[in-house]
Amino acid sequence: MSTFQELTGRLKELLAPPLANDWPNLPVTRAEGSFIWGADGTRYIDFTQGFAVNNTGHRHPKVIAAVKEQLDRLVHSAIGVTAYEPALRLAERLREITPDGIETFYFGNSGAEAIEAAMKLVRYHTRRPGIIAFWGGFHGRTYGAMTLTASKAKYRIAAEPLVPSVYHSVYPNVFRSPYRDDPDRVAKEALDHLRRLFLYEIEPSQVAAIFVEPVQGEGGYIVPPASFLRGLREICDEHGILLVFDEVQSGFGRTGKMFAAQVFDVRPDVLCMAKGIASGFPLSAVGASHKIMGSWGSAAHGTTFGGHPVSTAAAVATIDVLIEEKLPERAAALGPRVMERLREMQKRFPVIGDVRGIGLMIGMEFVDPKTNAPDGELAHRVIAEALRRGLLLYPAGPYGQVIRLMPALNVPEDVLDEGLGILEQAIAAVV
Ligand SMILES: Cc1ncc(COP(=O)(O)O)c(C=O)c1O
Repeated sequence: MSTFQELTGRLKELLAPPLANDWPNLPVTRAEGSFIWGADGTRYIDFTQGFAVNNTGHRHPKVIAAVKEQLDRLVHSAIGVTAYEPALRLAERLREITPDGIETFYFGNSGAEAIEAAMKLVRYHTRRPGIIAFWGGFHGRTYGAMTLTASKAKYRIAAEPLVPSVYHSVYPNVFRSPYRDDPDRVAKEALDHLRRLFLYEIEPSQVAAIFVEPVQGEGGYIVPPASFLRGLREICDEHGILLVFDEVQSGFGRTGKMFAAQVFDVRPDVLCMAKGIASGFPLSAVGASHKIMGSWGSAAHGTTFGGHPVSTAAAVATIDVLIEEKLPERAAALGPRVMERLREMQKRFPVIGDVRGIGLMIGMEFVDPKTNAPDGELAHRVIAEALRRGLLLYPAGPYGQVIRLMPALNVPEDVLDEGLGILEQAIAAVV
C-alpha cells in the first residue's frame, strides 16, 4: 500500500486538474481549533478554515460529540422516506436565528445546491424567467450556480451555453470606483445600472429574483455600502421581485451577527446557507417564508443526502456553540482590531491598496502603488512566504490580488496576533 507521502507525490495523476492544480494543496494530517498540521509535522495557523467553513474552529469538541452520538444512532435514511430529529431540530433552530420572515427550510449538501434550489424556487413562485446576479459574485460551479457566478470569466471557458434568462449588473466596489470617497454615490451608480438593465435588457415584470451576496467573498471580500442593499430591497418591493441573499460564505456569525442581513438590517425573501452551518460537515439550507416555499409542489425538487442526519446533528451543535460562546459578537469585536493592525501594515507597505471587511471576513488588496493596478502575483508571493513561516492563507478576487482572512471566530487572541505578525513578516520579505 502506498504511503501518504507517495500518494501526495502522485496527486496530479490521481486527482482531476481542478482539484490537483489548486494551490497550495498543502498535505495535512490533522487539525484542531485554529491550527492544522502538515504531513511533515509542521504546525500552521489556519486563516482559511476550509474556505470559511469552520467558524467554530477545527473539530470543536461539542460538534464532534454530537456527531459521534448521531453516528451511534442513525447515519442515513433519507428525508421523506423517514423523518429524524436532527433535521427537524435544525429547522427549528434556523428559524430562531435567521432574519425575520424566514420560516421554513429546504436542505441540500453544498452551497451550489442551495443556489440551484433557490433558482428553481423563485421561478416556481413567481412564474417569471429572469434572474439577476452581479459582477464579482460567486455562487458555485454547478450549471445554474455557475450561470449566476461572474467572478472570473475563465470559469465559463467551454462551459457555455449556460442557463437562459440570467442577467448581470454592477456590484458597488468602493475601492475600484472613481467615487471612492462617497460610498453612497458608488451604491447609487450600481443601482442606476440595474435600472438601466430593466430599460434595455429585461422588464422588471419578467424578473423572478435578484441574487446577491451581501458581502462578496470569492470576488474579493467586497463590502457594499448598506444603501446598496437597501436600494435592492426597494427595487424588489416595487416590482414584485424576490430578493435572495447568498449567505453561503457570510453566514453563521462571520460578519458579526448570525447573518449579514442582520448587520445591514435588510430583509431577504430567500436565504441561502452552507459552509459555516455545520462546522465542516456537508450541508446547505434554503430558507423562505411559508408563502414562498409553500408554492413549491411536492415533486418540484428533491434530494437523497440533503439534510443528512450526521450533518444536521453537527449543525444543531454548531448553532449552540455559536450562541453559547458568543462567536458572532466575538467576530464583531475582533474585526475592527484586525483591520486596525492591517491598516498599520498598509502605512508601512504601499503595495497594500485596500483593507476592508466586516466582522472576521477581511480582505487585503495588493496593488502596484504607482498605478493602483491589482497585483495578484505579489499576493501569491506573500501567501507562499507566509506558508513557509507557518500561516495558511488563500487569495480571492479576479486577479487573486486579495488575501482573505477567514480565521475561526473563536481564534485565541494570541494566535490571531501571531498570525498577523507572520503576515506582516511575509509582506516585508517579498516587497
Ligand atoms: C457565496 C458563495 N455561494 C456559493 C458557494 C458555493 O458553495 P459550494 O462550494 O459549497 O458549492 C460559495 C463557495 O465558495 C460561496 O462563497
